[in-house]
Amino acid sequence: MISSGQADDILKIQGGKTLSGQVTISGAKNSALALMAGTLLCSETCQLQNVPSLVDIRLMVQILSALGVKVTTNQDVVQFDASHLTSTEAPYEMVSKMRGSFFILGPLLTRMGEARVPMPGGCSIGTRPVDLHVRGLQALGAEVNIEHGVVHARAKNGKRLVGAQIYLDSPSVGATENIMMAATLAEGETIIDNAAQEPEIVDLAGLCNAMGAKIEGAGTSRIVIQGVEKLHEADYRVIPDRIETASFILAGAITRSSIIVDAINISHIKPILAKLKEIGIGYELESPTALRVIPAASYRGTDVETLPHPGFPTDVQSPFMSLLALADGNSVVTETLFENRFMHVAELTRMGADIKVKGNVAMIKGVSSLSGAPVIATDLRASAALVIAGLAADGETIVSGLHHMDRGYDRLEEKMRGLGADLIRLPGV
Ligand code: UD1
Repeated sequence: MISSGQADDILKIQGGKTLSGQVTISGAKNSALALMAGTLLCSETCQLQNVPSLVDIRLMVQILSALGVKVTTNQDVVQFDASHLTSTEAPYEMVSKMRGSFFILGPLLTRMGEARVPMPGGCSIGTRPVDLHVRGLQALGAEVNIEHGVVHARAKNGKRLVGAQIYLDSPSVGATENIMMAATLAEGETIIDNAAQEPEIVDLAGLCNAMGAKIEGAGTSRIVIQGVEKLHEADYRVIPDRIETASFILAGAITRSSIIVDAINISHIKPILAKLKEIGIGYELESPTALRVIPAASYRGTDVETLPHPGFPTDVQSPFMSLLALADGNSVVTETLFENRFMHVAELTRMGADIKVKGNVAMIKGVSSLSGAPVIATDLRASAALVIAGLAADGETIVSGLHHMDRGYDRLEEKMRGLGADLIRLPGV
């Protein structure tokens, strides 16, 4: 089920084609990664459905396998048997490649009483510290040392963590997930205040509760967890990927194409739909889980500020900027979450966009057209931004750095081609 792209593949896009038809959205990468880590909590076999086919998921399978989890894959259905864990130490060469791998710290620690996880890697969109994860686990009674780039956490109290009241300085998604998982098997009650409210948090709580955990309030800023001793088997479906959903809606909008984006959850993309409406992009529901994009001849510029959910998601900032580059008038995009998330700007500028960056603010003057050019994808979401820009640009765009795209998008070029886009993956030189 899992395809892997070569690091030096390139994508050749012939812009200007109108798209048509329907695309099916895959399961959410970020949710699936957290849920996969969550299966470490379970002493029986867990099954996840709707697992997307992409490189980060394959990496997580490798990490879990290295800990002794038996993983069986059948298309988008993956079984995890974590009944006999054989190691509490995650291999550096795998963890260093992906931020999401740090999610294993909490569940491994609470289940085994100990965990050693190297500091995570992933996209270079900012410094991305892990202090909130560490402080949360310390509050639950863990001793945490960071030495030689490895986080070593141990339960002080024999093998069981102890529930606590935790206030997160900022609503970190990963810290909320790590602490929530650790608290499911802790003794007593844990309260997480100022918790992240992303749909992925709700999904993870859904899996944990399906396994017998007692979590309330996921999706609000206060999550209350009553620790239980053991979790049991579960069969659970991953939510649709809201970032992939947004990327395809934007692909339809930028090419003025009335495509249908199917297998989605509308309530997860409200902040994105609100902004699209503001700039002149409509939609209608073909069914409760399918949306038809209603494009317009031209779009208005607008201001966007990325915020924790339910604000506008930082992961959609770069693809949305591709559209704003072609809107009428001026737009201002403020990135409040990651300090280095404007690396796509230089590439969009190569394509003729008029964008200036000052600190965490990008000022965009809409232009009437973009022109195809060779561009480099510098991070995961930048890759989607460049593909979307390439679809609308005059002539040929060549996107390199495709290993970023392959980390997080399930068969993007195949799905785009299914909609009639003219693009092809070629081995790089
Ligand atoms: C997750 C997503 C990522 C998304 C982000 C925000 C995964 C695998 N990745 O990343 O796609 O862009 O949420 O929606 O799910 N921070 C700290 N200390 C910490 C943790 C975070 O200062 O201990 C800061 C970060 O540097 C950042 C902000 O908090 O500025 C938000 O980060 P966080 O919500 O933790 O993002 P991730 O979980 O890393």
